[in-house]
Amino acid sequence: MRQRLSFEFPANTGILAKIGEIAGDVGRKAGFDNVEIGDVQLAIDEACTNTIIHGLKKDPSRIFRLIIQWQKNEIEIQIHESGEPFDPNATRDPDLKAPLEERPIGGLGVYFVRKVMDEVEYRNDEKGIKILRMLKRK
Ligand SMILES: Nc1ncnc2c1ncn2[C@@H]1O[C@H](COP(=O)(O)OP(=O)(O)OP(=O)(O)O)[C@@H](O)[C@H]1O
Ligand SMILES: [Mg+2]
Repeated sequence: MRQRLSFEFPANTGILAKIGEIAGDVGRKAGFDNVEIGDVQLAIDEACTNTIIHGLKKDPSRIFRLIIQWQKNEIEIQIHESGEPFDPNATRDPDLKAPLEERPIGGLGVYFVRKVMDEVEYRNDEKGIKILRMLKRK
């Protein structure tokens, strides 16, 4: 049976720990092992951090919606946010071979999300709300 949770959170990094706990609970209910749960927690943390910092500029009066749906062996996460426009195709994969001191700071979040999740999709709905949808199968 497919289950669903929906939350509205303010653009405040203080809520990330709670989101990590929620992801852990859902991961266990979906039958994921600890490594898989860690991947889901990493992806949700990076994606929500981006929404809070880049999308909503850490303005706690602005909110985003987090929707988590799961069934056995599958978790789907959606983040709905109407902040700063973002073209994910414009982000380049980080150069992981470059010497550490030559690498730019940041730019790893989107890369990690794509790496650990099976499906990642950014789109804008008809009202211009940005939707990030990501899915992981066991
Ligand atoms: N939800 C978002 N809204 C607007 N811009 C975004 C969003 N998510 C990502 N971006 C843009 O894409 C860039 C790359 O994001 P990414 O998470 O890969 O790196 P970062 O956040 O800059 O650094 P870090 O490695 O700490 O995550 C960001 O710098 C930002 O410009
Ligand atoms: Mg980031």
